[in-house]
Amino acid sequence: MRLAVLADIHGNLPALEAVIAELERLQPDLVILNGDLINAVPFSGPVIDRVRALDWVVIRGNHEFYYLDYGTDRALPGSDDPKRWGQLHWLVQRITPEQGAYLAVLPDDRTLYLPGTQPIRVTHGVPGRNRVGFYPQQSDEKILSQVRSLPQRTLVSAHTHLQVDRHVYLDPELVMDPLTDPHVGGRTTPDISPETCSVNHHWHVINPGSVGLPLGGDPRAQFAILEAVPEEVEPGGWRATMHRVAYDRRPALEAYETSGMLEAGHVISEMFRWELITAEPEIIYFYQWANRHGYDPDSQLDASFQAYVAATGRDAYVRERDPLRKRAGQP
Ligand SMILES: [Fe+2]
Repeated sequence: MRLAVLADIHGNLPALEAVIAELERLQPDLVILNGDLINAVPFSGPVIDRVRALDWVVIRGNHEFYYLDYGTDRALPGSDDPKRWGQLHWLVQRITPEQGAYLAVLPDDRTLYLPGTQPIRVTHGVPGRNRVGFYPQQSDEKILSQVRSLPQRTLVSAHTHLQVDRHVYLDPELVMDPLTDPHVGGRTTPDISPETCSVNHHWHVINPGSVGLPLGGDPRAQFAILEAVPEEVEPGGWRATMHRVAYDRRPALEAYETSGMLEAGHVISEMFRWELITAEPEIIYFYQWANRHGYDPDSQLDASFQAYVAATGRDAYVRERDPLRKRAGQP
């Protein structure tokens, strides 16, 4: 049994097409898409249509909620501000009612019980929290704090746009015996808090990275193949292989201007465009710089961004790496 796992397409149709072509070659038994189909790159509607036509298991991410919550009392504070949220306003106007209805009924969390394999939990972040993700450099303790109440030993997460394949183990002295512990009573899938005890002492945490906006410095579209293996081959029964596919980013980069997204989305859309060029976390870099230098991007977005560019020269760094600029043969 081989599964393909992908996530965080973020409206990047050319990247999705490149991954689909690679999946046609690899022929997995099942494809799982772990959230954030939309927003950031200008082809969100076509991405929804492409995915809907495929027989994939699809899970919702936090960017689907930006769309679903917009204009409701669940919306993030200030989301009617066209400077800060112009890109979302642009997106909301372009998702059709049928596409929105599809996003509205996606699940947030699935558990796969495939024949002859061990269960896999799949959710965009961690169960119940779609903006918590895993990073390659995280400590075992940090990962354990998020997974130690999970009854499934394999968790497929996403959200950070970084590929992760980690095994974490709980100190056996901290693992209580489920047969003698009165809180558990011998059940094999206990509904208990991590503070009381755990029946597992090992978890396998996998993040397939991002199809549309990888952030580890390599712009290729990312996904993972999970293969069912015996427990003695890999604890938890699933072996992950990380994949990266090169594709032409120029149509996506051109679409920022031709679609009107850049004009509507101002600084935020510009920084997503930068992330597509550099494959680095440009938005996090900007917010970290602003916090260190006393700027508040939420209330002074333009002024903060102008100061950031003037101080760091980041715009020149991005221009040097822009595939459109290279094609134009500019110095
Ligand atoms: Fe996300």
